[in-house]
Amino acid sequence: GIKIVTIGGGSSYTPELIEGFIKRYDELPVRELWLVDIEEGKHKLEIVGNLAKRMAKKAKIPMDIHLTLNRQEALKDADFVTTQFRVGQLDAREKDELIPLKYGVIGQETNGPGGMFKALRTIPVIFDIIKDCEKLCPNAWIISFTNPSGINAEAVFRHTGWKKFIGLCNGPVNMIKDIEHILKVQENDQLDVKIGGINHMIFALDITLNGKNANRQLIDRMIDEGNSETLKNIVDIPWSKEFLNSFGYLGIGYLRYYLQKQQMLEHCQEDASKGQCRAQVVKQVEKELFEKYKDVNLDVKPKELEKRGGAYYSDAACNLISSLYNDKGDIQVVDTLNQGAISNLPDDVVVEVSCKITKDGPIPIQVGELPLQTVGLIQQLKAFEILTTNVALSGNYDDALVAMTINPLVQSEIIAKKILDEMLEAHQKYLPQF
Ligand code: NAD
Ligand code: G6P
Ligand code: MN
Ligand code: MN
Repeated sequence: GIKIVTIGGGSSYTPELIEGFIKRYDELPVRELWLVDIEEGKHKLEIVGNLAKRMAKKAKIPMDIHLTLNRQEALKDADFVTTQFRVGQLDAREKDELIPLKYGVIGQETNGPGGMFKALRTIPVIFDIIKDCEKLCPNAWIISFTNPSGINAEAVFRHTGWKKFIGLCNGPVNMIKDIEHILKVQENDQLDVKIGGINHMIFALDITLNGKNANRQLIDRMIDEGNSETLKNIVDIPWSKEFLNSFGYLGIGYLRYYLQKQQMLEHCQEDASKGQCRAQVVKQVEKELFEKYKDVNLDVKPKELEKRGGAYYSDAACNLISSLYNDKGDIQVVDTLNQGAISNLPDDVVVEVSCKITKDGPIPIQVGELPLQTVGLIQQLKAFEILTTNVALSGNYDDALVAMTINPLVQSEIIAKKILDEMLEAHQKYLPQF
């Protein structure tokens, strides 16, 4: 049987994962699941962990679920380690979103200035987890959902010797579902989508429906029928027909923060003025979810979890684990080293790209060149990510100032310094490198 350890087990997403393991028990027999959290999350771990136990019991699968605050005890001989933790929980996210906004900058908690600080808090913990894994489960795969998922993966490949690490996002699964919906794909149709870019800046580069290229058809449908599908955490301001027509590619919702910057900024400011930045909204959703989870009669994943941006997380995570375990060789989109898959990005950077998933890990598919209208933004964000990983190790203030300044949402040395100084102070407790 398989042993899985989930770090950040108190997350409200845990029922997603349990549902995924239950559905796939025949092909992926998870006999032991260890949910790990820390003192701060103990209360959440107990509530969600007990729901997890009820779900397994109702489904009649022999999966032993253990709850613990002792990471090392859990990691011993694990086959797969998944991560879904948030250093500083939602209070820290609220600061990531609201501090930059004071200076007229979108915080964006994954690839904006907020994401930089989320990375600075998270990377030291990831490195500690890897040190534990080197001792306790050196052959395990680490599958990391923790954001900023792409920056964390970049840090691991750049600054540690651990190879079996895969960054994961639910965005690509959602993108493919959007494409199926827009193209009205039926059960017998054969759809192939090649996705490429970096985490939270991916594009559908090549769409083939029943053997024919369908890129143009997709864009035309989006123009004719509206194009406002996006992830739950991102407001869906539509693109103009003119822009879509010439831009020519479907991008992830996060593209709006960069190419609809002004409208998105105004929206964030309006939400914040009502005490409704995304972190504040999610706090409320989470409160309601945990009230539900406490109900001892509940033994399935509640529908309300769909209000979170991480919908289809379990499809992404469990399909990936199953393909690694069963050596399936199917195509999934993950964060791994480029190795030539995207020809106009360096080989040794982490990209989010369609990969063949084998027992030896993801093998990226050659997707060719990123189109010109996308590549500049991706290169700029990648440079920001790499600089951020360096700062996560060094705690060097001047390097942090440069990383913050070159983020495409900031682009001002003076404003970057103000944001940096206030965030360093606000997050001090979680920044061991500074
Ligand atoms: P959350 O605030 O509920 O945190 C989850 C748990 O992590 C909490 O119980 C907390 O106590 C615990 N935790 C904090 N520090 C820890 C540590 N050092 N070790 C172990 N546990 C620790 O977060 P959430 O909203 O459930 O999200 C969890 C993570 O998943 C976040 O990083 C979030 O950004 C990420 N996420 C990623 C995607 C994706 O597409 N990759 C989608 C949704 C959420
Ligand atoms: C999206 C992303 C995640 C992101 C999350 C936010 O789908 O892929 O990486 O962090 O959802 O969702 P939330 O409900 O926490 O705002
Ligand atoms: Mn994501
Ligand atoms: Mn809103």
